[in-house]
Amino acid sequence: QTPESLNILGNTYKTDEWTNATPTILSLTDRKLHKQPNHPLGILRNLIETKFEGMGYTYYNDFEPVVSTHENFDILGFPEDHPGRSKTDTYYINQSTLLRTHTSAHEAECFKTCKTPGYFITADVYRRDAIDRTHYPAFHQIEGARTWSRNEHGNNIVEVIRADLEALPKPNIVVENPSPVFHVDNPKQDNMSEVETELIAAHLKRTIEILVEDIFNRAKEVAIAAGSTDPDLHAPLKARWIEAYFPWTSPSWEIEVWWKGEWLEMCGCGIVKQNVLQNAGITDRIGWAFGIGLERTAMLLFGIPDIRLFWSQDERFLNQFEAGKINNFKPYSKYPGTVRDVAFWLPHVEKDGDLLHENDLTEMVRSIAGDLVENVSLHDEFVHPKTGKKSQCYRINYQSMDRSLTNSEINEYQDQVRQQLSEKYNVELLP
Ligand code: PHE
Repeated sequence: QTPESLNILGNTYKTDEWTNATPTILSLTDRKLHKQPNHPLGILRNLIETKFEGMGYTYYNDFEPVVSTHENFDILGFPEDHPGRSKTDTYYINQSTLLRTHTSAHEAECFKTCKTPGYFITADVYRRDAIDRTHYPAFHQIEGARTWSRNEHGNNIVEVIRADLEALPKPNIVVENPSPVFHVDNPKQDNMSEVETELIAAHLKRTIEILVEDIFNRAKEVAIAAGSTDPDLHAPLKARWIEAYFPWTSPSWEIEVWWKGEWLEMCGCGIVKQNVLQNAGITDRIGWAFGIGLERTAMLLFGIPDIRLFWSQDERFLNQFEAGKINNFKPYSKYPGTVRDVAFWLPHVEKDGDLLHENDLTEMVRSIAGDLVENVSLHDEFVHPKTGKKSQCYRINYQSMDRSLTNSEINEYQDQVRQQLSEKYNVELLP
């Protein structure tokens, strides 16, 4: 089953009982889509970097995805029982090594080594998840951060932050219910004054609003060019700030943007906790950080209907995009999908829960049929009133982006799914 060691990007790692990274997921680690100039993700990264050119940020694009649990969780103050640490959510290489689940895994390192006031990190990140049009277990994030030194500016740090804030352009956005800056449940840092907190929060929010305005104004142009008559497209962008929680920032927020009739959650952020900076050896600086996902934004900018297309190696996808340009994706013929069910009785156990997680099943099916799996979902569930035994029916949708699948091919996948289900989970298969 699990090999004794895994070779990832030229390094060898010993496996153990924590190992759950699959060959399928590991095969994505060398794609570096955000570095390809003609790929939608590369184009978007470039656009954002260009927007902040000359404003004191260093751009990091080469961090590799294998990090320690220390970098991904501990140094950021994730509690021991945080759900993000669980094997159902995260790909472990072994007990102390994993595929980063967010770009924040590199914050400490960048705070330590960065020579400019701020930085942007763009990278691929991995989270075990369902697979469908909008979810994929690998995606990309941009992390932004900026700090100000107390030593350099002495008592003038407040004036320096204020001047930096005033130097930022004012985006044309209507912000609904701007949240209070901080309060007991979303408190400021002990070592920062109220004015410092307010100014840093304002600088952070303004920076994100600039980014969001730029992206959505482009998305509006694309939508108008594509013939949309949505009246919102001709009004200023609407956004709102909501309270959030991240273990390494306080206070913390999220921005939501009104787009095509719904609030889209765009980006988490906050003021970096003092102990996190201290752990990175920084004792004289205070500042903010944010993290934004690229795929969702790229989907609306380029009109890409399915998140899996980003990983496509099909020329009909790749040839549609060009560095520096935003254009609407033209769908190419999609072949019809095939739906298959698999039903079974779960073995009877006292405790419910960790028997067979939806993510485990999705992953198993994916390890068998790869990207041909369009969707896996729990379709039906039944608990026998007398025996208390539970049966489940999962629905698997097989579909290829670029060819039609044969029945015998799908039958073979289904046979393997059934076989592995009964071997690994001891289920009693239903016909
Ligand atoms: N890493 C967070 C996420 O993945 C986003 C974030 C980054 C939040 C930096 C606060 C500060 O959701």
